[in-house]
Amino acid sequence: MPEWVALCQSRDVVDGQLAVPFDVVYNGQSCRAFAVRFEGRVQAYLNRCSHVAMEMDFQPDRFFDASGQWLVCATHGATYAPATGACSGGPCRGNLVKIATLEKDGVVHWHTEHNLQPLIF
Ligand code: FES
Repeated sequence: MPEWVALCQSRDVVDGQLAVPFDVVYNGQSCRAFAVRFEGRVQAYLNRCSHVAMEMDFQPDRFFDASGQWLVCATHGATYAPATGACSGGPCRGNLVKIATLEKDGVVHWHTEHNLQPLIF
């Protein structure tokens, strides 16, 4: 059943700065995901480039380019719009997989789906 899962404190996700990573199970595979803040809103995506299914950060939790306007894959430079995950340049073959988020009472939550579940250790 879909549910909201607490991720972190709102203050942990700073506009245009490092992401907050988390683990999910997506289509039955364990996978990294990340949350960033852009123009005041928290956005979350699978950490999986649409070009080649690999993680995108070249330094841990760093996804924004130098301008702070785009999420960039370190491997071949695909860029994505932070607000939507839409491919905006480079060799991407589609958009990032978006994960719904909600901020409530100073806490960021992400939303499960039938194919997106928390990783249970
Ligand atoms: S793997 Fe991301 S641009 Fe190639």
